[in-house]
Amino acid sequence: MASHWEEFYSTHLPPTDFEDNRKLLKEFCERHHKTNQRIVLITSGGTTVPLEHNTVRFVDNFSAGTRGAASAEYFLEHDYMVIFLHRLKSLEPFTRHFTGQMFLDMLELNDRGPSTTITVKPDCVDIVAPILARYKNAQEGGRILYVTFTSVSDYFWLLRAACECLAAFQSNALLYLAAAVSDFYIPSSEMPTHKIQSQNGAPTISLQLVPKLLAPLVNLWVPHAYVVSFKLETDESILIAKARDSINKYKHKLVIGNILQSRRYRVVFVTPQSNYEVVLTRDQMLNGMEIEDSIVANVVDSHSDFISNLQY
Ligand code: PMT
Repeated sequence: MASHWEEFYSTHLPPTDFEDNRKLLKEFCERHHKTNQRIVLITSGGTTVPLEHNTVRFVDNFSAGTRGAASAEYFLEHDYMVIFLHRLKSLEPFTRHFTGQMFLDMLELNDRGPSTTITVKPDCVDIVAPILARYKNAQEGGRILYVTFTSVSDYFWLLRAACECLAAFQSNALLYLAAAVSDFYIPSSEMPTHKIQSQNGAPTISLQLVPKLLAPLVNLWVPHAYVVSFKLETDESILIAKARDSINKYKHKLVIGNILQSRRYRVVFVTPQSNYEVVLTRDQMLNGMEIEDSIVANVVDSHSDFISNLQY
């Protein structure tokens, strides 16, 4: 009998641009595998659950993509190659520093004379230059690959395709699963084709449980990789227990727990042996430090320990 996750794949078509993305993933991984690099797959942003095949309405999962986008920048600083699998239009590394009209406000338009030029305002150069330098370094070195999803089903297909390419890296592969993945969905076969009509009265929508992908991911797809998942809760009293349940159940290496309201300055690392907090002080926050800097430094250390322990 097919397992729950296998059944999901057999009843949900891949996204239309799936083959293109699969090719990009394969090419990126093959290129970096040749030079024996460490690589991280970051998932970021929330998945949607469409209510109609021709989707007008959908149920969304909370996540701005800050955690994933900021972490990608820090992993690049630690010399990791990065696959950034993220929700379309959620925050991205580097551009995340310039939200809304901020970037346009930093520019000056000089349209005197025959040619128009655009320059960065002198007092903004110190802000833009270091970010632009890091962006160019990642882009020109081909060190980051951007792949987007929207629905939970897109996410499923792309996550598995990425894992298939990452398997060759064995313990050099790190999975950093920060995306907020829908727990409930409407099976494809039960979804109406067209927009639900209000004239038919309030619809009764029945949701089913989404299969947890951590099980096949850890056991079958990338069994030698270092897998880190995140756990978001709103009730502090259950956070550590839920994180520990997850690590006991899926047998991966690390769960990083966070509470919705305090996620920018406090997380809890839960390993099979222990748990410890990573916290930003008020002064660190005021100085512009981001918790992802410490989270990534800790994860990179644990990944290094994991690799060296395998060698002895
Ligand atoms: O983006 P921000 O606004 O910065 O917020 C960051 C965050 C709070 C979203 C992030 O830090 C976080 O906690 N992400 C995980 C949210 C969560 O609890 O997801 P989950 O309960 O859907 O999944 C828990 C873990 O199981 C995740 O690592 C997920 O990858 C995995 N999972 C989930 C569903 C599923 N079907 N299969 C899975 O394997």
